[in-house]
Amino acid sequence: MPADDLHQRLETANQQHLLKWWDELTQEEQTTFREQLESVDFDLLGRLLEKGSDTTGESLAQKAERAVPPKNLVRLVELEVNSDLASTAEEKGRELLASGKVGVVLVAGGQGTRLGFDQPKGMYPIGPVTDRTLFQIMFEQVLARSQKGGVKIPYLIMTSDATDAETREYLKSQNYFGLDEQDVLFFKQGTMPAVDDQAGKLLLAEKGLLSVTPDGHGGILGALAKANLFSELESRGIEYLYYHQVDNPTAIIADPVFLGLHVLRESEMSTKVIAKVNASEKTGVVVDIDGETQIIEYSDMPTAVAEKVDEAGSLLHWAGSTAIHVFDVPFLKRIAESADGLPFHTAHKKVPYLNEQGETVCPDEPNAYKFERFIFDALPMAKNALVMEADRTKEFNPVKNAEGNDSPATCKSALTRIATDWLTQAGAEVESGTTIEISPLFAVEPADLNGKVEPGMKYAGEVILK
Ligand code: UTP
Repeated sequence: MPADDLHQRLETANQQHLLKWWDELTQEEQTTFREQLESVDFDLLGRLLEKGSDTTGESLAQKAERAVPPKNLVRLVELEVNSDLASTAEEKGRELLASGKVGVVLVAGGQGTRLGFDQPKGMYPIGPVTDRTLFQIMFEQVLARSQKGGVKIPYLIMTSDATDAETREYLKSQNYFGLDEQDVLFFKQGTMPAVDDQAGKLLLAEKGLLSVTPDGHGGILGALAKANLFSELESRGIEYLYYHQVDNPTAIIADPVFLGLHVLRESEMSTKVIAKVNASEKTGVVVDIDGETQIIEYSDMPTAVAEKVDEAGSLLHWAGSTAIHVFDVPFLKRIAESADGLPFHTAHKKVPYLNEQGETVCPDEPNAYKFERFIFDALPMAKNALVMEADRTKEFNPVKNAEGNDSPATCKSALTRIATDWLTQAGAEVESGTTIEISPLFAVEPADLNGKVEPGMKYAGEVILK
């Protein structure tokens, strides 16, 4: 047994079972295990277990009853009808990009369990013709935006224990798809221990290793601070971060219109939404509750509230989250430095563990609680939080599931559909059944095709524009 206060600490926390195999561990294993145990905040875990996901005393489901559609909102049709608004925003956004004040952050620490791919999700081949990976499409977009603005755009990549080593290795081997190595800033999110749902005991993955999971995309704040990236961003003069997820290759990275609106409306955090297809679509919904803009996860949304309609019979809570945001960097830093930070959410999950006989058990039913932070919980803390509607067909085609909706198949056809629209807008003709892939370095927005694609040109079969 460790003869110091670690033993005592675990006994006080009623977690002494974790040391059952201590004497069997090598000295090296003991050192690693000790470090892991010493980093656990048992008081916090105790509080989380007591409260569950509710940190206010009132459940989210109860709060959702008071939800109304977000007020500080720019709808798609407004941008289409009021071209002045769209062009002023776009001009402002391009100015920002050219001033070198914008960085981009990608969260790529998730485990991607639904997709069931055995590498980090960003390495999934998604290009409909070339099998370009999700990472390649994203890196090339950032490069194209840098070249357009004539500036370096730092690309921050959040990984986790589950994705870090492979992601770094892969991106290095691909020379960061043309970005300079010093402009690719990796940082790793933290973890939270899994706790069994019966007696509140921490689970072991091995005899000298706790069972832990990534602490959610909200882990970004602590992770940015830990990696000293707030200072790095400050020294590079970066004032805004454009946030996107690894699963959506059609997200318009560093969209000038969105950036421009964010600044013109003096928002500290802005978020893009899309109209939900129906009430039961499994997406977070952006609403205002008691005057604060926030996102309610679909799992916290009571069906009756999700199904509410307005006077015209349309869905009242239509604003589905795309998980595309723009942040003021000082705003993120302020929350990262605040005592409470973002709240934790508790999820009841199946977590493999070591039983008392030292055998690994893979449960068939949920057996443990996992704790995660969500970045969108920053929204109610932001001044003038702005919500902008995007066209889902153009910007929201995520890869979540192996098959069915939001799968590689739907995402690939979306990429072809978007490319077809761009070519058609440029006056070309695209035969039905054509598979098309446009490299972001060839065109990152439809206007880039002008001069590159001749009106009247015909496209058929498999087409790559690069
Ligand atoms: P999801 O919520 O879709 O989770 O992540 P996931 O882990 O990728 O997939 P499932 O649920 O296991 O199937 C949305 C985005 O947030 C990132 C993911 O990498 C993805 O870009 N994320 C999620 C993190 O970076 N860290 C996390 O702890 C969780």
